[in-house]
Amino acid sequence: MITFSNVSLIYPHSINTVLEDLSFTLEEGEFVLVMGATGSGKSSLLRLINGLVPHHTGGILAGDISVDGISTRQVKPGGLSHLIGIVGQNPLNGFVCDKVEEEIAFGMETLNFPTDVMRKRVEEVLDLLSLTNLRERSIATLSGGEQQRVAIASALVMHPKVLVLDEPTSALDPIAAEEVLSILQRLVHDLSLTIVISEHRLERVIQFVDRIIHIQGGGVATIGLAQDILRDSPIAPPIVNLSRALNLPEISLTVRDMRRATQDIRRQYSDSTRKSILPMVATEIIELEKLRVAYGGHQALKGVSLKIYSQEIVAIMGRNGAGKSTLLRSIAGVQKRCCRASTHLRS
Ligand SMILES: Nc1ncnc2c1ncn2[C@@H]1O[C@H](COP(=O)(O)OP(=O)(O)OP(=O)(O)O)[C@@H](O)[C@H]1O
Ligand SMILES: [Mg+2]
Repeated sequence: MITFSNVSLIYPHSINTVLEDLSFTLEEGEFVLVMGATGSGKSSLLRLINGLVPHHTGGILAGDISVDGISTRQVKPGGLSHLIGIVGQNPLNGFVCDKVEEEIAFGMETLNFPTDVMRKRVEEVLDLLSLTNLRERSIATLSGGEQQRVAIASALVMHPKVLVLDEPTSALDPIAAEEVLSILQRLVHDLSLTIVISEHRLERVIQFVDRIIHIQGGGVATIGLAQDILRDSPIAPPIVNLSRALNLPEISLTVRDMRRATQDIRRQYSDSTRKSILPMVATEIIELEKLRVAYGGHQALKGVSLKIYSQEIVAIMGRNGAGKSTLLRSIAGVQKRCCRASTHLRS
């Protein structure tokens, strides 16, 4: 479906080669992750697929890229829009209409699709992405995950063969991200769509993908199965780091695999052998007592009490809007006191 033949890319006024002599073929129905450090060239690779790079950005491209047999050199970027759907990091940037249904139909309207075809396709994607209940809603009132589903629906309604997504879950909490990624996996299975996705948070996506393209910098990129690429890549999700730390013979990519691979190790560590991880001399540094914070009528924190000790690293977890930043601002003493709050900082 997608073929890169000896592709090299260098941007103008840059001394670094982004890609050098990269060749690979992605088949129909493959789900592929592009991973690499910040600035390594993930977005560049994704934009090469639809010809945005170098058509819009400038740069020197050597080699050839073809999608469904069409070389990106033969057409302008818009010329591949019937084949390739694009979804970005922040869906709000790409929306032009106010209502969900209008947004989904917009692309077809601009191409003068017959009304009956438009209606049928809109119904199809509303069902496919479980958006039927939201069809009348104003997009601005939707959650991040729902907006991203609308963005995917707007791309799918054009019946592309390839979906390219550049960090589509970066603004989403883990639950919304998993929902979006599961939908993508279903599209791969049900429609044989070819999906290429870039993602920083590898732990979210590795369980879903067939292969990984790892951009290593300096023009070097490799492609392979997730197990092979992650065996000794410098960036890896926590579950892979754990596999390495435990010297497991095989890298585990899912919690299920990890549980199976560590049955014996876990048996050795019964509760009685677990020691407190806090040093004996730990002193209380921060104490919150029934902390309450409200924004207007909305209670963001409803009586949070906790103690944090010296030398402790504490993770604050919660869904989007759960109050994590409010809690941190309260601890730092920069949260507006909209109501009574009690925080003690000890030294
Ligand atoms: N239009 C452009 N002109 C010149 N240089 C560019 C252009 N776009 C990207 N670059 C450079 O090319 C390199 C790769 O950028 P790219 O955006 O593809 O990386 P990325 O892996 O997507 O990064 P991130 O993880 O931050 O999204 C970077 O050094 C960047 O500065
Ligand atoms: Mg990028």
